[in-house]
Amino acid sequence: MPNTILVGAQWGDEGKGKVIDVLTAQADVIVRYQGGSNAGHTVIAEGKKYVLHLIPSGILHPGKQCVIGNGVVMDPFDLIKEIDGLREQGFDPLGRLAISDRTHMVMRWHRALDAADEARRSQERKIGTTGRGIGPAYGAKMGRTGLRVGEMLSPRFLERVRSGVEEANVTLAGWGAPALDVQEMLSVYAQAAETLKPYIADTVALVNAADRAGKSILLEGAQGTMLDIDFGTYPFVTSSNPTAGGACTGSGLSPRRVDRVVGVIKCYTTRVGAGPFPTELNDATGEHLRQKGGEFGATTGRPRRCGWFDAVVGRYSAMVNGVDFWAMTKLDVLDEQPVIKICTAYLRDDGVRYETFPADLSVLERCTPVYEEMPGWLTPTSACTRYEELPIKARAYVERLVSLIGGRLGILSVGPARETTMRLGL
Ligand code: GDP
Ligand code: IMO
Ligand code: MG
Repeated sequence: MPNTILVGAQWGDEGKGKVIDVLTAQADVIVRYQGGSNAGHTVIAEGKKYVLHLIPSGILHPGKQCVIGNGVVMDPFDLIKEIDGLREQGFDPLGRLAISDRTHMVMRWHRALDAADEARRSQERKIGTTGRGIGPAYGAKMGRTGLRVGEMLSPRFLERVRSGVEEANVTLAGWGAPALDVQEMLSVYAQAAETLKPYIADTVALVNAADRAGKSILLEGAQGTMLDIDFGTYPFVTSSNPTAGGACTGSGLSPRRVDRVVGVIKCYTTRVGAGPFPTELNDATGEHLRQKGGEFGATTGRPRRCGWFDAVVGRYSAMVNGVDFWAMTKLDVLDEQPVIKICTAYLRDDGVRYETFPADLSVLERCTPVYEEMPGWLTPTSACTRYEELPIKARAYVERLVSLIGGRLGILSVGPARETTMRLGL
């Protein structure tokens, strides 16, 4: 398989876990390149459900090398929990999982700061984060005060932990949040470092050596384009670059070594947390999509906001990521809709039409989505194994989406299990 970047094209939860699991069969090395345990990637394999947060979803394929790249922010306790959970289910990551020595760590105080920051914001400014410490950890990275995984091997590690807790306690006190116990932090981090040592490696060298040896590399994104710190609905975003550019900075693989980009996109739209969502449905149709699509957060269990497919988002995502192939998911969730709407543009109250996503969120407050309607197929699609078996109206819908957003259809998914995946040139 050519070296491939896989990105989420909407607001996350597009079904990346499932698609990565399917593509892993042809990859040798799978690298998570950004985000942290805010991600929840679901794979349903042989009737069993797995939710991965930090470890690439490729881990469920024996023999594949998995990497937590330098662009990730890694919470050691979440990672240890995930490793233990996989072991219990018969997948031992030891020897197959490498964590970059350049990866920044999400420390306990980053989680505390994340929660305290959300709590002190006014209602309109709350982001609705996952509470996993992501913003403060990336903040420390950019502020050049962060702790990197490689430091766990240093005799000075605990000194750094001590000064980190002490400094965070001052901020927490200022925000009226409880302080963290320094002694407890020293003890739990000493233990975590011991447990994780065997996984730490120079993954930049590892990934590039694999590339030189002709192995195929799959770069796994978390979150989605509209949650990107640069291209998303700022400030209602995550603190990393889920878009294709982030795959190179987050893994150390040169852009010149990437062959193609796969965008994962749902046949409708969802979003968790606060922020604009032009095609949101606050009605019985939205509720139907939520129930039928099982749209509840894989990490936090929060109900996801649901709405119609937004081709403005799709087009924007195609452009920013350079999507070659689409992996379209959850077509089956629309099986019972008599009429399906597609948003093709946003119309401002003064008649200005937006075909691409505006940076200024206040513009969206003055916009309404322009919809076109298509007839539903009112037939179950989950049992279809070939594209030709799909109802003609379902094919027309999929083909209309692709024609609106550009690129080619590579995968079409009609159910959560591995088997319910149509491969169409990917
Ligand atoms: P990710 O974060 O992009 O990996 O997506 P999540 O795992 O958070 O959410 C996607 C959800 O949709 C999971 O529960 C998947 O099992 C499920 N899923 C994926 N593809 C399909 C599909 O084609 N049809 C249905 N019904 N469910 C799907
Ligand atoms: P996967 O990889 C959907 C959202 C949060 C919140 C915003 C910021 O499963 O697609 P953060 O905790 O990152 O500071 O929260 O981003 N968010 C996600 N939404 N899927 C995800 O990951 C998400 N990761 C973060 O809900 O709105
Ligand atoms: Mg998810």
